Amino acid sequence: MNVIVAVDENWAIGKDGEQLRYISADLKRFKALTMGHPVILGRKTMATFPGGRPLKGRRNLILSRTLEEAPEGGEVYRELDGLLDAAPEDAFVVGGASVYRALLDRCDTAYVTKLHAAFPADCWFPDLDADPAWEVAEEEKPQEEDGLVYHYVTYRRKR
Ligand SMILES: NC(=O)c1ccc[n+]([C@@H]2O[C@H](COP(=O)([O-])OP(=O)(O)OC[C@H]3O[C@@H](n4cnc5c(N)ncnc54)[C@H](OP(=O)(O)O)[C@@H]3O)[C@@H](O)[C@H]2O)c1
Repeated sequence: MNVIVAVDENWAIGKDGEQLRYISADLKRFKALTMGHPVILGRKTMATFPGGRPLKGRRNLILSRTLEEAPEGGEVYRELDGLLDAAPEDAFVVGGASVYRALLDRCDTAYVTKLHAAFPADCWFPDLDADPAWEVAEEEKPQEEDGLVYHYVTYRRKR
């Protein structure tokens, strides 16, 4: 499976249920990479999507023990095992922190947007640079949007 995430310099990913910053070019890239593939997400991350709804054009596999019914365009899984049985290999894990933690070991490609800044945060992604199981496969040059510099790094699990 794949994982996609935007991190700051400390691998922080969010605060108070929100993303640290939105970069419109990064949102477009997220859409291009995930479109047509299943996405795996936690209930709290779905709440951050437009209208708090599943993403269009993608099968949305949502982890939740509290959602009473599946929102239109989404499938709800109460347990990780059930979700894993249903999740195809081309799925993208799209967050949040608890779902990344639970599923990173199942992923072999990580699409990371690195923000060149440090933000106040309350949740983090594991530091792949410090994890010997992962290596950088591709690193793009820095870009800037609204004064924020960022760049894309693709990591692959070592064989
Ligand atoms: N920077 C990025 O790329 C990025 C991407 C996505 C999200 N984020 C950020 O991450 C933060 C949210 O992360 P989070 O960890 O608080 O929330 P989350 O992972 O999005 O959702 C947590 C919820 O998912 C459900 N869940 C998780 N594991 C489960 C399991 N094993 N079985 C059943 N249900 C399970 C539970 O829902 P119920 O409570 O309904 O049972 C749990 O409360 C936000 O700040 C968000 O903006 C950042």
